[in-house]
Amino acid sequence: MELKKGLEDIAIKETEITYIDGNLGRLYYRGYSIFDLAEFSNFEETAYLIWFGKLPNSRELKDLKEKLAEERNLPEYVVQFIKNVRKDANPMDVLRTAISMLGIEDESNKEELWEKAVKITSKIPTIISFFVRTRKNLDIIEPDSSLSHAENFLYMLKGEKPSNLESKVMDVSLLLHMDHEMNASTFACLVVASTLSDIYSSVVAGVSALKGPLHGGANSEALKQFMEIGNKDNVEEYIMKKLESGHRIMGFGHRIYKTYDPRAKILKEYAKMITKEKGLYNLYEVAEKVDEIGSRILGKKGIYPNVDFYAGLVFYSLGFEPDLFPTVFASSRIVGWTAHIMEYLKDNKLIRPKAIYKGEIGRKYIGIQERE
Ligand code: ACO
Repeated sequence: MELKKGLEDIAIKETEITYIDGNLGRLYYRGYSIFDLAEFSNFEETAYLIWFGKLPNSRELKDLKEKLAEERNLPEYVVQFIKNVRKDANPMDVLRTAISMLGIEDESNKEELWEKAVKITSKIPTIISFFVRTRKNLDIIEPDSSLSHAENFLYMLKGEKPSNLESKVMDVSLLLHMDHEMNASTFACLVVASTLSDIYSSVVAGVSALKGPLHGGANSEALKQFMEIGNKDNVEEYIMKKLESGHRIMGFGHRIYKTYDPRAKILKEYAKMITKEKGLYNLYEVAEKVDEIGSRILGKKGIYPNVDFYAGLVFYSLGFEPDLFPTVFASSRIVGWTAHIMEYLKDNKLIRPKAIYKGEIGRKYIGIQERE
């Protein structure tokens, strides 16, 4: 039996949701280029596309927008949990637990999977914003159903309506993170879903996997790196030292992309605009220089900036503290997780790989008194 560490190059299902061309740096949701979707579409429309496989007509889009807006409130016991949890809790732990709590109430509900997917998607920004406000001893801001998904998220977080640029940048950032084929967190969701467990449990597994620094945690690490460098003139020395000491440049490298991640390409432009508006342009300049020098050195090995490289800078400029970045990622990836769960369950097969045993066999059992 051949060992494939990290399941590299192993396909576990066929999909019609997302296609990545890792050599050309292209990404397609349901056949539509990410470049077109980022320019012309929005969170709600692209979520419809990913869940249902086609772009919605006006009535379908209006229905989905209304449903997403209606479902933003949280049950009181989840609000109480958020208010009472320790203020220094990891936001991903709060999110994971809150989704799990939602599942306890909702599991007996006989709604279709897509309806549960919409519900969870709708509630994630409320969970995150309520936690952020509570930990800062600020009043929570109730959701505003007249605002889009992206606008309402920023509104609940900061208590004021976002500018047009903030709304667009938030919307595009969420759209770009929505799905990415068989990444670690989506796979974790499918492992759970394939046992015919419920959708909440499956999503909890996804949140847990996304929490790790090699996956959803890399965006804050990338930002931390820009802050540590501080000035664009320090970049070259910083990179050389990092690489010589065997460390990685955070926000660089990807299992599938062997060229520039198209999402990073799009986010770079928005990072430039939003950092200018927010007085953080010096950080953008540092990032741009890391991008340039890092790509020159690591590009020979097919290692370039991934989505996380500029995402942290963008989320920070929008007002999210670094420990919240993976939760913002989750608030978007939930669409992909649930779409893949629904697709997988149409033709379910329990996920149960193998391990190659390397230990001894037939060892003699010795009583505890006789052991050294
Ligand atoms: N900086 C420097 N060198 C790197 C980097 C990096 N960011 N990424 C990979 N390499 C090098 C490794 O050191 C290794 O070199 P070697 O062959 O000389 O030992 C080689 O590239 C292959 O690295 P692996 O870790 O085996 O490749 P893998 O496909 O498993 O890695 C990963 C993908 C985990 C994303 C890796 O590139 C990494 O750690 N990047 C930094 C963290 C990061 O940005 N993660 C976000 C990923 S995207 C996402 O989750 C949305």
